[in-house]
Amino acid sequence: MSDITVVGGGIIGLSIAWRLVRRGADVTVLDGGDEGAWHVAAGMLAPGGESEHEDPALIALLERSAQLWPAYVRELGVDVGYDDTGTLGLALTADDLAQRARLWTRQQLPLLRPSELRELEPALSPRVRAGVLAPRETQVDPRKVVHALRERLGTRIVVKRVESLADVDSRQVVVAAGCGTAALTGLPIRPVKGQVLRLRGEPGLLRHVLDGCEVYIVPRADGEVVVGATQEERADRLVTAGGVHELLRAALELVPGLAEFELAETTVGHRPGTPDNAPLLGRLDDRVIVAAGHFRNGILLAPVTADLVAGLVLDGLDTPGDFAPRRFS
Ligand code: GLY
Repeated sequence: MSDITVVGGGIIGLSIAWRLVRRGADVTVLDGGDEGAWHVAAGMLAPGGESEHEDPALIALLERSAQLWPAYVRELGVDVGYDDTGTLGLALTADDLAQRARLWTRQQLPLLRPSELRELEPALSPRVRAGVLAPRETQVDPRKVVHALRERLGTRIVVKRVESLADVDSRQVVVAAGCGTAALTGLPIRPVKGQVLRLRGEPGLLRHVLDGCEVYIVPRADGEVVVGATQEERADRLVTAGGVHELLRAALELVPGLAEFELAETTVGHRPGTPDNAPLLGRLDDRVIVAAGHFRNGILLAPVTADLVAGLVLDGLDTPGDFAPRRFS
């Protein structure tokens, strides 16, 4: 058995393992074999748009990880769909505008008129009332990132479902098993269901990530367009008629031209939520470390989580106290 075992083969576990390997550690990843939340995730790297909460420690962590992403992409060394065209935050109604105004003011983003928005994104509906350009809110394709990490880690990844940490024979164990972390550690992580659609059509209809109040739309260079997501306090895996209807209705309201696209995929994932919806990062005891509960920000937080866990395991550096795994005990 390796010196360090990472339990969890999703984007967080693989990013941690790769950072440890790059720093010379002897690492095995135990991958439960299921596709995790990364498989469903759209891959928005949006420290502002996804942080409508006021927690300054979490906002700082999101910002720090967003800054790490360009170097992380270079380190991966292959095309992982990183695109820094930026995000348009959009309001269709006066209510939407009131809801978004505070966030946009805090981000110091100037309000754009409909004509300015359509100059940036000609496919937008004329009904869009106002919006902003968030140039630092980028995107990556999580499926490509996980593929690249799997290639790099190769035989260090072993497909094995872990039922108990007592069965893991390793000096240090990092639990990065998303929602599965709760059963292994007793920590309060709950599944928050998200239904996500993938549409497919002519590339180039859209340039930017679109962040509406009811839906986000993430266009890829190859013509795939990811539409997400419901947020439901449920653990089931049903794609529902209501979920698909709401996502399509909201997406077509913003971009009518998407009606011509193929509905190529409907998926369900579960965000690992915590009582304050901030991650659990740090030591549980001399042997076990936790890196889980990233909620809506698992893709964005992968590089900073990897650095923090590597610093803890290899250098004995403390992880930020705001994210202590036992803070709810
Ligand atoms: N980060 C997007 C979502 O959780 O739906």
